[in-house]
Amino acid sequence: MNSQIKEALQWRYAVKKFDTTKKISTQDWQTLTESLTLAPSSYGLQPWKFLVIENPQVREKLKAVSWNQTQVTDASHFVVILARDKVDADFVQKYVNRVAEVRGLPVDALDGYKNMMIENVANSPEEQSRHWAKRQAYIAMGFLLETAALLKVDSTPMEGFDPKAYDKILGLEDSGWNTTVVVALGYRHAEDVTQNFKKVRFTDNTLIEYVK
Ligand SMILES: Cc1cc2nc3c(=O)[nH]c(=O)nc-3n(C[C@H](O)[C@H](O)[C@H](O)COP(=O)(O)O)c2cc1C
Repeated sequence: MNSQIKEALQWRYAVKKFDTTKKISTQDWQTLTESLTLAPSSYGLQPWKFLVIENPQVREKLKAVSWNQTQVTDASHFVVILARDKVDADFVQKYVNRVAEVRGLPVDALDGYKNMMIENVANSPEEQSRHWAKRQAYIAMGFLLETAALLKVDSTPMEGFDPKAYDKILGLEDSGWNTTVVVALGYRHAEDVTQNFKKVRFTDNTLIEYVK
């Protein structure tokens, strides 16, 4: 494995205690947000949105519904990843319009692509398209975590919270968005003992199999 990438991935761990005195630089933050917006998604539909919670009082409220995990309030930056509740024909149209704009194409040249997306995603049962959108949100999270590691920015991916309570605190009820997963980013505290724990992974040969 490329030694720089290997070192970064070994270095990263899910931080339990952040150093509240250290903040991510504007330049690194820019790279991190770009890693979110550049993440791939099925059909390229990007059924997500990223809320960066800067307000300390809001962070306190969110911590209370996150098993009181201190990363919520202590990290330099705290990102709530939302997934669209409904991926409907209107949203597909919005995306198609954007493709046409970026690639300089007439919108109706994309009718076949649009109809395929409507059939495969927008017309599927609501519960199915909701789950589909959430799966996409995790891809964005993965990109963010890896980019952070390469920048030597610490992070914690988090599912230990009450998503419905987040939706309420963030005013998302009936907004068309669902809180899916959150990521705290910043710098590890010197006293976070977790950083010394050995990484526990199954061995490569049980996880990676070659079909010849
Ligand atoms: C989707 C997801 C949710 C997680 N939720 C939490 C969480 O709520 N709190 C926490 O401290 N760690 C959380 N973790 C961190 C995992 O426990 C950690 O990534 C795993 O034990 C592997 O350790 P490492 O990331 O330090 O290598 C979560 C990780 C993932 C990927």
